[in-house]
Amino acid sequence: MDMVAKEAEAYAADHTTPMSELLEEIEHFTLTGTPFPSMLTGRVEGRFLQLISRLAGARQIVDIGTFTGYSALAMAEVLPDGGEILTIEHNREHAAIAQGFFNRSPSGSRIILRVGDAQEILKTLPDEKTDLIFIDADKQNYSAYYQESMRIVRPGGLILADNALWYGRVFDPKDDDSRAVADFNELVKTDSRAEKLFLTIRDGMYVIRKRSVAV
Ligand SMILES: C[S@@+](CC[C@H](N)C(=O)[O-])C[C@H]1O[C@@H](n2cnc3c(N)ncnc32)[C@H](O)[C@@H]1O
Repeated sequence: MDMVAKEAEAYAADHTTPMSELLEEIEHFTLTGTPFPSMLTGRVEGRFLQLISRLAGARQIVDIGTFTGYSALAMAEVLPDGGEILTIEHNREHAAIAQGFFNRSPSGSRIILRVGDAQEILKTLPDEKTDLIFIDADKQNYSAYYQESMRIVRPGGLILADNALWYGRVFDPKDDDSRAVADFNELVKTDSRAEKLFLTIRDGMYVIRKRSVAV
């Protein structure tokens, strides 16, 4: 089920500043040349990620689930000098496509693409050194990604989780992915270490800020 009416999605995209030429090309490629077009974040979420990265002054970003590289490149384009994005992808084919796009971008040198299992790679990252994390990989592991993200994000830093509405299936979860996203949403909702804002942008995005002191 679409959470936002198609007309509203199209209207919102039409009234949002277009992305760079390369990001528009990635979008076109993903929509026409891959079997998973719905996995793409796209213009509205892409601009949202850019805006929030800028407002947060993020310099160290982790992007969980690279796919064709859209979210990583969107955030890389607005990083300040010296900033860096680690993007994680376990599918070699997706990683190769994304790296091909990164190589063509002046912002590509700010992106480190690691191929492997996201949980394993997250475990290798230091405590509280990351400013912003975008969770957008397999739904089964959302809670595990959240727990690791709470460890690696600095106090005051942000965690954003895509597909938090999971096409409306979280209202009455009937399959493993839907239950996993619903469980993740409950975990965040009841976590006293975090301030939360649940946005109904596209398929839902949970915006979470790690408090300096738990309440
Ligand atoms: C929804 S797509 C990411 C979309 C991307 N953020 C964008 O902006 O277009 C999810 C990606 O996560 C990858 N993925 C799924 N499970 C993973 C895991 N355990 N470790 C690393 N990557 C994983 C998938 O192969 C897929 O490319």
